[in-house]
Amino acid sequence: LVVDASDGFGRPIPKTLFGIFFEEINHAGAGGLWAELVNNRGFEAGGTQVPSNIDPWTIFGPESSVLVQTELNSCFERNKVALRIDVLCDNCHPNGVGISNPGFWGMNIVKGKKYKVVFFARSIGALNMMVAFRKAQGGEILASSNIKGSAIEVSEWKMFETILEASASSSNSILTLTTTQKGKIWLDQISAMPVDTFKGHGFRSDLVDMLIQLKPAFLRFPGGCFIEGQSLRNAFRWKDSVGPWEQRPGHFGDVWNYWTDDGLGFFEGLQLAEDIGAMPVWVFNSGISHTDEIDTRVIAPFVQDALDGIEFAIGPPTSRWGSLRASMGHPQPFDLRYVGVGNEDCGKLNYLGNYLAFYNAIRHAYPAIQIISNCDASAIPLNHPADLYDYHTYPLDVQQMFSNAHVFDKTPRNGPKAFVSEYALIGDRQARNGTLFGAVSEAGFLIGLETNSDHVVMASYAPLFVNANDRKWSPDAIVFNTNQAYGTPSYWVQYMFKESNGAQFLKSQLQTTNHNLVAASAILWQNPQNKNTYLRIKIANIGHKHVNLKISIKGFKSKNPTESTMTILTSKHGMDENSFSHPKKIIPQQSQLQNPGNEMNVIIPPISFTVFDMLR
Ligand code: AHR
Repeated sequence: LVVDASDGFGRPIPKTLFGIFFEEINHAGAGGLWAELVNNRGFEAGGTQVPSNIDPWTIFGPESSVLVQTELNSCFERNKVALRIDVLCDNCHPNGVGISNPGFWGMNIVKGKKYKVVFFARSIGALNMMVAFRKAQGGEILASSNIKGSAIEVSEWKMFETILEASASSSNSILTLTTTQKGKIWLDQISAMPVDTFKGHGFRSDLVDMLIQLKPAFLRFPGGCFIEGQSLRNAFRWKDSVGPWEQRPGHFGDVWNYWTDDGLGFFEGLQLAEDIGAMPVWVFNSGISHTDEIDTRVIAPFVQDALDGIEFAIGPPTSRWGSLRASMGHPQPFDLRYVGVGNEDCGKLNYLGNYLAFYNAIRHAYPAIQIISNCDASAIPLNHPADLYDYHTYPLDVQQMFSNAHVFDKTPRNGPKAFVSEYALIGDRQARNGTLFGAVSEAGFLIGLETNSDHVVMASYAPLFVNANDRKWSPDAIVFNTNQAYGTPSYWVQYMFKESNGAQFLKSQLQTTNHNLVAASAILWQNPQNKNTYLRIKIANIGHKHVNLKISIKGFKSKNPTESTMTILTSKHGMDENSFSHPKKIIPQQSQLQNPGNEMNVIIPPISFTVFDMLR
């Protein structure tokens, strides 16, 4: 490998190159990143008609003591369904009777931690209830609080709020609302959140920490197919996901087949981006779902929706939608600079017409916003204007993923820039739930993107998260359950590319007959902490053999060889994966680089991704 590190031979890599893509898939948000513990908090999962689907709520106590039914008499206009509980027993069971919610495969309650429970209630006669977290097995109480309301207070809907502190832990807990008194109670919008969410903004801290570790330049959200819907009536609508949480209707995501209360809505996506220091990239529905489409002649309301969404994100607090954002606690505009028109919709009947309607309106109203088309321009130029084009790739074969590094080698440089917003090796044979083999092939692909970063300006892996209890798509970058999380090897590959954003790309030449197995690139990057500049060489080897590599670096002298390191991502077998029992089986291992210099002979292990860093 010959690297030219002489002054003047570098090319800046865009600061935006590596980011992340969050989609509400695999319970990534509901039951994941969004720390809400209650599942179906408004009993709305069946839609707006009654009887509604109250799943996974169940009766707590003897079934014969309680009758539950849904009614359309909530105090909230946009989510009318409420639960009526007829308590039939007098001096009921000493543990009380009522309802319970298991959250998303059990709530994680931790000793010493505080939880805020909020709910809305009405009752005939005084209200006397106990709110508690209990172990799912055995019912032991982990935290509880008594709630009282006089008959006058609860003759109309009233909000109750209480903080529960856990005296013991269980990762498989339930929330119960119980009473021992005969009567009629109506309940609605029951929420339970840990008090210590990330920055107090409602996100699960351990999962956000894993995002921050990647130093993502941008956050594309909220989908993916999630924004399209199997049918348009079930597509994500940003306006239904903003404003006070208790007033949001929620919706059934019919592509990934689960209900979301939309606690993690448009506002929260923008907030998350800000909290992790990433630029938001908002993808909205282009009037097209998987099975139906809006004709371009009547697309205007969808276009207005997108304009309103941009105003919500960046409009002044005095504007109609900007004022809603301000009322939610964010008077300053968010840093929204990119929008994606639809997802994987290019080629569908109305896409081009619809796209142009969105494009023209947005360009006119917000000339600075960068607009992303769904149409791939890597080989054939676009027939419509765009600032960026979206490129997705999900090969089933390691070799294919690896050689995709060259997809952009010949793309003309005079058109819109490329946004590789979804890439991953998939398939049971080589990718499974996230193998080393797959991740190293992705490293080879990313070396190709870095090499072509005069054209490819943004890239993100997909999907980002999977709740192990609802694996709709595999592999994913971060695997979690109620109380654990780990990165797959693909996560760690992204981690090893995080210094590339804004670095200098150096000319290098790999002389080998094995270009289909080995790829390399070199950059100069600056450590923001100590401001030191490092020469970094990255090598991906998907071959099953060691590679003896001679590295020659022109125009570079390492100042302090003891500060030179080698970081390797590898394992015994290419098909190895991380797991809850071995979450760190495959993580980057750093050691001091022996004999660093302008001429080095190194041995690159089979199926590995290796990074050399040398202080300049
Ligand atoms: O990343 C999973 C899915 O793959 C996305 O929702 C979609 O855009 C693509 O088909």
